[in-house]
Amino acid sequence: MSASVYIPCDSSALSLGAERVAEAVSIEAVRRGADLNLIRNGSRGMFWLEPLVEVVTPEGRIAYGPVQTKDVVSLFEENFLSGGEHPLRLGLTDEIAYLKNQERLTFARVGITDPVSLADYLAHGGYRGLKRALGMPAAAIVKEVTDSGLRGRGGAAFPTGIKWNTVLNAAAEQKYVVCNADEGDSGTFSDRMIMEGDPFVLIEGMTVAGLAVGATQGYIYLRVEYPHAHRNLNAAIESAYQAGYLGGDILGSGRRFDLEVRLGAGAYVCGEETSLLESLEGKRGLVRFKPPLPAIQGLFGQPTVINNVISLASVPVILDKGGVYYRDFGMGRSRGTLPIQLAGNIKHPGLIEKAFGITLRELLYEYGGGSASGRPIRAVQVGGPLGAYLPESQFDVPLDYEAYTEIWAVLGHGGIVVFDDTVDMARMARYAMEFCAIESCGKCTPCRIGSTRGVEVMDKIMATQDRARNIALLRDLCDTMLNSSLCALGGMTPYPVLSALNHFPEDFGDESRGWAGDAAA
Ligand SMILES: Cc1cc2nc3c(=O)[nH]c(=O)nc-3n(C[C@H](O)[C@H](O)[C@H](O)COP(=O)(O)O)c2cc1C
Ligand code: SF4
Repeated sequence: MSASVYIPCDSSALSLGAERVAEAVSIEAVRRGADLNLIRNGSRGMFWLEPLVEVVTPEGRIAYGPVQTKDVVSLFEENFLSGGEHPLRLGLTDEIAYLKNQERLTFARVGITDPVSLADYLAHGGYRGLKRALGMPAAAIVKEVTDSGLRGRGGAAFPTGIKWNTVLNAAAEQKYVVCNADEGDSGTFSDRMIMEGDPFVLIEGMTVAGLAVGATQGYIYLRVEYPHAHRNLNAAIESAYQAGYLGGDILGSGRRFDLEVRLGAGAYVCGEETSLLESLEGKRGLVRFKPPLPAIQGLFGQPTVINNVISLASVPVILDKGGVYYRDFGMGRSRGTLPIQLAGNIKHPGLIEKAFGITLRELLYEYGGGSASGRPIRAVQVGGPLGAYLPESQFDVPLDYEAYTEIWAVLGHGGIVVFDDTVDMARMARYAMEFCAIESCGKCTPCRIGSTRGVEVMDKIMATQDRARNIALLRDLCDTMLNSSLCALGGMTPYPVLSALNHFPEDFGDESRGWAGDAAA
């Protein structure tokens, strides 16, 4: 009987040698005459264990990791194809605490199935949501999503049902569904993992969105830096067309939905929804004034649903199990789960899908195992490059949109980047201004000019020049950027800058940290 072995084709695993390990396992199996069914899955999201090799046994899938090519011969020698003992054996994959304690709704199949096999997707509950949606009136689909409490996972946390309802009620010949797969935030990779590890769930979610609002054309705006996601999305779209899940007559219903992937060109601001639409129309990625909202006048001037990958990929489980099932997870007005991405100076980086309400402290220590350097964790940036830095005193605040608003922080796309006590927070503040200066689309003055002046002011503060005056100037500048930028790139750059200054003032002038600061700082 052939043994089924899973080795990820996810790019995080590939970057750690998964391709070479897969080759070595295949060659060794041939050499030994072992009958092997090698499946390339997505990643389970435990990056410190990648490449993670799994073998199917009667007890379940047994994991070995991190496996390097030099380990392959000994794995065969110790009979890993039957789950044999080996120093790299981790036991049943599903029993690994990091994974076992998660609540995987959106990521239910990632790492489990062959991402580009439609049969595997169907065997694991795929397309149940679409089948249900096909029998529902459009308004009932929108209501199910509204009832789920789903809020956009791209950053702004706008209620998805309300957005869809606006598009549903907009009269037009042609409407569109656009998936924002630009994923530009530092330390984030959940969109990538879905697109590489379970592309059908995104395709299903977009098809349901099309039925819900009356859109017949969808586009996935994918960042060019994701070639593996591009390949898997195109393979899955092709299979979905062949099997009648996309096209002019979805599963014989007479309903149409077409879908294409379009590549971005590498600008952070093209993740902002209106400049994304400009880019998708073939123009330079420049932010548009709002109103009109994209839901009323979006792509090519037509009503458009634009949602993040995770928002859309959460729709199939909502349609399958019901909005009430989904909203039972979470706290307050933050319903369902958030795929949290743990990165930076952390021992166990990876993807943790949990209901809202978990704290940073639990994530950093119970999941993350503390810093990779072994030094104390000093600051954590949550929500990408425009997110605030949180000090240890805020590690017990639950991950909840409103709780984070109260402490002047954001959850954004759920990215968490960890820094130990060697970090210089003034340098991080300068970096935030520099990032904004480089990525600014240039349309409005507070961002275009303000960020450049911000870098200069930070340089003066760091050079201990007239520090008190320059810190006051920095605050003034941040105030202008916050209140008068056209979009959140300029409008949120003050979050990392001011949180660094407010929580870590010693890095902006405390003599004990080695700077000959002036007395007023
Ligand atoms: C500078 C900037 C960059 C953004 N980048 C992304 C991104 O990469 N992916 C994303 O989904 N949303 C991004 N957003 C948020 C989008 O503008 C928009 O809110 C989102 O696509 C809406 O989808 P959602 O409601 O499902 O979150 C960005 C916003 C700004 C201001
Ligand atoms: S804030 Fe920056 S990125 Fe946004 S519109 Fe203004 S210049 Fe462009």
